[in-house]
Amino acid sequence: MYAPKRPFTKYTPYDVVLTWLATRPSHQHRGAATMLLRWLIDLAEREGLDLYLQATPTGYPLYRQFGFEDAAAFEVNLGDLGGTVEDGPEGPYRTVLMRFSVGGRT
Ligand SMILES: CC(C)(COP(=O)(O)OP(=O)(O)OC[C@H]1O[C@@H](n2cnc3c(N)ncnc32)[C@H](O)[C@@H]1OP(=O)(O)O)[C@@H](O)C(=O)NCCC(=O)NCCS
Repeated sequence: MYAPKRPFTKYTPYDVVLTWLATRPSHQHRGAATMLLRWLIDLAEREGLDLYLQATPTGYPLYRQFGFEDAAAFEVNLGDLGGTVEDGPEGPYRTVLMRFSVGGRT
């Protein structure tokens, strides 16, 4: 597990946290998430806001395409926590904390 130098929860008033993005499975691959992300990034660029999110393995490539960068990554083995195959993928599950920076703040 990697611990970021700056505590990830210590956001500034200029940071926006995208808490959840999901498209109903029957409507995926039609550009809904792309459209929402474009709207959010336009807003961030206009207002000078930095964006943060926690990416699932499914969402990760999409966020990379939009210029989000890795800030920290966490791996958890669901089996170690008593999870079953029905709870999620076998083996380590990786989630990445990502940042889209418009203002060059650190
Ligand atoms: C990630 C997610 C929100 C994308 O929604 P969407 O409306 O289908 O996205 P879009 O139609 O705008 O497609 C954007 C890209 O994501 C890819 N994508 C969409 N659904 C996908 C899926 N189920 N598996 C893999 N890739 C997927 C598309 O192929 C596209 O990539 P491309 O431009 O290289 O072709 C959607 O797959 C989802 O709800 N997943 C489950 C919840 C989740 O993991 N959310 C992310 C939380 S951080």
